[in-house]
Amino acid sequence: MLPARTLISIPDSRPPLKPLPPQVPSTAFASPDGANRQAVERLLGQVLARVTGAMAGAGERAPYPAGVRLPPGDDLPEEGSGEDALLAGVEAALAGSMNPAHPGYIGHMDPLPSVASVAGGLVSASLNNNMLSLELSPFFSRLEQRVMERLAGLFGLPPGSGGLLVSGGTLANLQAMTVARNHHFPVMADGLWGLPRRPVVLASRAAHTSLQKAAMILGLGSGAVRPLEGDSDGPLTEETMAQALADARAQGLAPFMVVVTAGTTVTGSIEPLRAAGRLARDNGLWFHVDGALGGTLMFSSRYRERLAGIELADSMTFNPQKWLYVTKVCATVMFRDMSLLHRAFRVQLPYMLQPPDFVNYGEISVQGTRHPDVLKLWLTLRHLGRRGLEALVDRCMDTAAQMAEEVSRRPELTLAMPPQMNIVVFRAQPKWVAPDQWDDLNLQLQKHLLDGGVYLAVSVYQGKKWLRGVVLNPYTGEEELTRLWAGVDGFLAESKIAAGG
Ligand SMILES: Cc1ncc(COP(=O)(O)O)c(C=O)c1O
Repeated sequence: MLPARTLISIPDSRPPLKPLPPQVPSTAFASPDGANRQAVERLLGQVLARVTGAMAGAGERAPYPAGVRLPPGDDLPEEGSGEDALLAGVEAALAGSMNPAHPGYIGHMDPLPSVASVAGGLVSASLNNNMLSLELSPFFSRLEQRVMERLAGLFGLPPGSGGLLVSGGTLANLQAMTVARNHHFPVMADGLWGLPRRPVVLASRAAHTSLQKAAMILGLGSGAVRPLEGDSDGPLTEETMAQALADARAQGLAPFMVVVTAGTTVTGSIEPLRAAGRLARDNGLWFHVDGALGGTLMFSSRYRERLAGIELADSMTFNPQKWLYVTKVCATVMFRDMSLLHRAFRVQLPYMLQPPDFVNYGEISVQGTRHPDVLKLWLTLRHLGRRGLEALVDRCMDTAAQMAEEVSRRPELTLAMPPQMNIVVFRAQPKWVAPDQWDDLNLQLQKHLLDGGVYLAVSVYQGKKWLRGVVLNPYTGEEELTRLWAGVDGFLAESKIAAGG
């Protein structure tokens, strides 16, 4: 056989590349021979200048834009409208978007982006690889495997564990439920038809709605997600969980999975992980922890203990796009035993090479083609390090505790519960306003605070509207908190006067 090198001879200098058709703008692509390098550099430089300007000027724009208007014009013009239109579009997007980088943004679990992940997004976009297979992303596929093994280890999962990135926590939960179901019932090829009993999942009422979506997609029906509290209105305890399991079995159902949440969506509660894990293990059920939000506590030596029991998980969801400052999307699903994922999910891709030492991600993921989000995660982890991330988590926790304290000092405010992570939920319930008006009052309070440059979300909890502060921004400090409480006090004083009090 001839050595490979002699098969193709590459000339020292090659003729210019085939020109683009005249209808295509000259900066539509970066010409691979460098012919338009300066023009592309100038264009991307102009974009980057606007991007960094918007990032560095985020404090000058409101946390939430008022009266967003889309630019006029045909969205599919007959002729490409040139670089000016491109830059105008970039500017419109920058000006009209929600602004979580504002230090007064204490709204949802949407962080200001780490610079490393913005860089990662740009680099991975420029490479346009595909996580479908090792062949299509030789660097990123191997990187994802290594990073996920590292993260699984951080959460205390044993050797042989690992995971993958998916486009959001919803898909992470879907993937986990699918593997759990396929592992417990012989349904991978034949579907649910022959099952003698209905498979059900036990999860608390506070679990994220993506579980119901997953059950619906999997043909179990959204009603297959049954409350882990059983009929009890109280908190989740060992007894209520055991009772819920016994009741489901007594009703002829087939529970196969227990899900608890480390950081519930609205209040950030950390459910009893260890007790649920033991219950699952003692009864041969799959144990899934949805740590989409609260998983980040693992980076803090001070707060890691709150996640004790997470190491019992068969699978877990963790979203670095939330409290790890990685740009969207970046969510992970981890498995205690990756070989189970391979056995209870894998569908081979006949159109991709099958490397002897690697399972293509597109064969074990609910997604096929996928962006290499791992670069944003990896660069962020390396840039900030565990100590850096720990300091950020601890700072957010301190600010949240300070906020809760301020709430407790005001008799007209009620705290939903002491914060277990970076979420503080409270509402105004002044005695001079009728209780059936309190929901409206809190909506008005939110608007009043936003006018003063502080954005809190409004969420429904136990049927009522509450203000919900999620502390993510390390720049949120005295200035914003003073504005927040002055805003609350001013609003309450005005409402008292309006009520004639
Ligand atoms: C606990 C929990 N799990 C899952 C999800 C779903 O994540 P995503 O919005 O990324 O799909 C959320 C979203 O807020 C969540 O709070």
